[in-house]
Amino acid sequence: MKISHISDLHASHNGMFNESAVKNGIRMINEENPDLVIVTGDLTCWGIKDEYEYALEFLEMIGPEKLIVPGNHDERTDGYHKFERYIGKRYFTKRVDDIFFMGLDSADPDMDTGHMGREAIEWARNEMGKAKGMRKVVFFHHHLLPIPHTGRERNILTDAPDVVEFIMDTGIDVVLGGHKHVPCLWNLNGVVISHTASFGSKRSPVENSYNMMDIDENGIRIERVNSETGKRERLL
Ligand SMILES: [Fe+2]
Ligand SMILES: [Fe+2]
Repeated sequence: MKISHISDLHASHNGMFNESAVKNGIRMINEENPDLVIVTGDLTCWGIKDEYEYALEFLEMIGPEKLIVPGNHDERTDGYHKFERYIGKRYFTKRVDDIFFMGLDSADPDMDTGHMGREAIEWARNEMGKAKGMRKVVFFHHHLLPIPHTGRERNILTDAPDVVEFIMDTGIDVVLGGHKHVPCLWNLNGVVISHTASFGSKRSPVENSYNMMDIDENGIRIERVNSETGKRERLL
């Protein structure tokens, strides 16, 4: 199964949105025609109506099915209600062939820090009971582990230990996220944890890009694709 992973679109008219990179990235994703596109939050900058509508213009250009969770920026200005109105549920699961996908909301209204919460973890544990024998991909916006070059550390989920325990206990194979616009790949006891760079923000330490992930019987492969040049770099 082929999956595109994009994050941190940050659609806005604030001069920091790299519209040409986003359009080019979407063109390349549509050409590759993956089975699924996972979007790990920060669609907007301030969670306001104009930005949600602007973000939707681009998300609607993406041909394949999309699974989208909110980020901290999307929950500013009462944004999580707008997320539910414009995008959909903040917690969900989806089975595609033999892979079980779970999207989780790790943001809190008007906070930049991430927090999963006991109720959400309990819900996620119960849902994972439906995924026995399947491969499991979980995605949320914030960091599960420290990521180099993301500045002073306050980007990890405040309840990361409990989330790590949930991930280990339920045999999750892949965790996808975004947040600080720095691509990073960790392997934690066989769990692949992959953060992608920003898809659309000029406020990024690396070029705008997205990841392409292949999951099949031979394992997991991940490539980073520069949205402007198309240059590809094998990460896993
Ligand atoms: Fe972001
Ligand atoms: Fe973020």
